[in-house]
Order: sequence, then structure tokens, then C-alpha cells
Amino acid sequence: EQKVQIHRGLRDVLIDRTRSSFIDGDVGKLLYRGYNIDDLATKSTFEETIYLLLYSELPNREQLDAFDAELRANRALPEEVLSVISITQKSHPMDVLRTAVSALSAFDPDTEDNSAEATLRKGIRLTAQASTIVAAHARIREGKQPIAPNSSLSHASNFLYMLFGEEPDPRDAKLMDKDFILHAEHGINASSFGARVTASTQADLHCAVTTGVGVLKGPSHGGAAEEVMKMALEIGDESNAAAYVADLRSKGGRVMGFGHRVYKAVDPRSIHLMDDARDLGVRKGQPGWYSILEAVAKVMEPYSRRGICQNVDFFSGAIYYLLDIPEDLFISIFAMGRIPGWTVQVMEQFDNNILLRPRLLYVGEMDVEYVPIDQR
Ligand code: CMC
Repeated sequence: EQKVQIHRGLRDVLIDRTRSSFIDGDVGKLLYRGYNIDDLATKSTFEETIYLLLYSELPNREQLDAFDAELRANRALPEEVLSVISITQKSHPMDVLRTAVSALSAFDPDTEDNSAEATLRKGIRLTAQASTIVAAHARIREGKQPIAPNSSLSHASNFLYMLFGEEPDPRDAKLMDKDFILHAEHGINASSFGARVTASTQADLHCAVTTGVGVLKGPSHGGAAEEVMKMALEIGDESNAAAYVADLRSKGGRVMGFGHRVYKAVDPRSIHLMDDARDLGVRKGQPGWYSILEAVAKVMEPYSRRGICQNVDFFSGAIYYLLDIPEDLFISIFAMGRIPGWTVQVMEQFDNNILLRPRLLYVGEMDVEYVPIDQR
């Protein structure tokens, strides 16, 4: 066999430089444009954080107001896209989101313009439109009318409003906002890599975001939050946690919400969500879900020695659940938060583009003789 090195899964392979986010997986540190996620999660808003990501610096008041106004002005969907959502309503919400994002390319004035300015405009529009897609679909599939966006509400607050039809408790809106901040950007994760591969062929942002949504859907990536909540429901009571995990592990199963390709310490995003999940459970009179997850985390403690620690998805599902959000919308919420991150990654790719085209080592048969079909 040829002597070549294969980097399966591209583990630890650096494919380019980035100025967008920094992850130190050994200590569990995450920075967006140099700013610590702990500061952004506790002091910033989603609007301000994504301004930082998209424009590389924190906005002043005037810049933030103008940016926020642009987001609010772009929330509505063309009637045709609402029809697409209606036609595909039986699909998983991520499939509907993927299809609707793709369909939006037909109505965007900048679709095939790959300049930095146009890509930024499209990223802002898609960020605004995605929450309307997710909320509209959630209602349409229940036979309800979609609720038009309310431009007097923040991004997070408006999402909950469009989903439930009433203005949310500001504490719930704040949690949603923080959750979006925590999901906004994360280096060259699988979906951002997918978006970059698409951009590297000089396809446009709608193609790249459609790719990102598709890649995010899997349970190894964005789908874990939904799986964690399913696990908590199955466990049912904290006293069953140890037996459940032991049984799962004896069958070779993985505990969802644990493990990460880069973090070998606790994912710093999960720490914020852990406190929030606990407090929200108490506030909603349902502290049991947090207790179950806490019990699972306790059983998983020994795994931390092998670098398998809780990740962002471990507590996010419980928060969405306690906010009454249907389980199959969990990944879509991750996607809504991540669109600015995909946009930044695509802009970086365009800025210094090289076709992303690795190679595979062929290990099949060679020079096989072709036998005509009637002689086989
Ligand atoms: N439970 C139990 N064992 C695990 C887990 C887990 N959740 N994750 C990894 N391991 C073990 C795995 O079995 C393997 O053991 P061994 O070496 O004995 O075969 C070892 O850890 C290394 O695993 P790996 O598959 O080589 O690691 P990876 O970097 O390819 O996988 C991962 C990363 C996230 C796919 C994986 O940890 C996993 O499947 N976790 C559960 C799903 C999950 O929570 N995903 C969300 C990730 S964070 C949000 C996001 O970025 O989307």
C-alpha cells in the first residue's frame, strides 16, 4: 500500500486562517472576534453580538440601532415562500427550513452577487427571515395562520411571539436571546465547513446556508439537543439515570450532549445553559428535567478524564422544552442562531478563496476486465 497519511474526519487539520472565533478545547474557552463568550452571553444581545461577528467590531448605539432596524425590516416572507412552507409542511422543520432558505434565493435582489457587501446584506436578511420560516411552519402544520412579525420586538422576543401568538415573558425572551448568542459562531464545525466548501466553488450565500442547514440536521451535530430531551423523557426520573446510562453504554450507545471534536474540557457554552435550565425549571414549576440531566452528568463524570464532557446541546434542549417549544424545532433554533456564523465563514472564504477539494486514497480493485452483460 502507498505510504500516505490519511486525515480521517479531518481531525485537527487546519484548513485556513480565521479572525471570527477562537476555541481552546483544552481549557474550554471560546472567543468571538476576541471577545469572551462569557461576557457576550451575560452582557450583550444577539443583535449586538452578530453585529460584532459580521462587522468585526462592537457597534456604537447608532450603528446598533441601524443594524437592528435592518433586521426588523427584513423579517417578512414573500407569499410564495409561505406557500412553499405550506406545501412541505409534513417534512421535519429542518427540511422545511432548508427548502424555504433555498426558495428565498428566487426573491432576493442580491442572490448571485458574491461581493462582501451583498453577502452581508443577504446574511442579515436570511438571519431575519429564518425565524419567520421556523415560526410560520410550526403554526401552519397545526392548521393555524402564521403570525406576522412584530417590528416593535427584538429578534428573540419576536420569534417567541410569532411561535405562540403572544408577547413572551421578558425573562423567556432573554433566555432565547442568550441561546442565539451562544450558537452564533463556532469555527470550522461540520456545517460551517459545508458552507465553506459550497462558497469555495463560488456558489452564493443562499447555496451555502442551504448546505449549512442540511449538514446541521444530523444527530452528531445540531440534532443532539433533541436527542438529549428524548433521553430525559425516557429516563423519566433522576433515580433511573445511572441504570439508563449503563444500559446505553453496554450497547455501545453514546450519551447525547456529551463529547466534542474540539472541546476536551466542558464546553463553556453549556455552563451558561446549565444555570439557565436549572432556574427556568424552578420558575416553570418543573425542576425535574434539570435533576435528571444533572444525574446523567454525574454518571458521566468519569468520562471527563477521557475528554468527554458536556457540550452546548446538553442543557439547551431542556430550556427549549421548558419554553414549550416542540422538540423537533430544537435544531432549527440552532440553525437560526448560526446563520450569522455561516455568513462570516463564507465571507472569509470569498475574501481569500481557494477551492476546497481534498482527495481520497483509492483502495479498490484495479484494471478489472469489462465483461459484457450477457456473459456475466
Ligand atoms: N458518549 C459516550 N462516549 C463517547 C461520546 C458520548 N457522547 N462521544 C464520544 N465518545 C467516545 C467514543 O465512543 C470514542 O471512544 P473509543 O475511542 O473508545 O471508541 C471516543 O469517545 C472518541 O469519540 P470519536 O467519535 O472519535 O470523537 P469525535 O470527535 O469523532 O466525535 C462527537 C465527536 C460530537 C460526534 C461525539 O462526541 C458524539 O457523537 N457526541 C454525541 C452527540 C452530540 O452531543 N453532538 C453535539 C456536539 S456539540 C454541538 C455541535 O457542535 O453540533
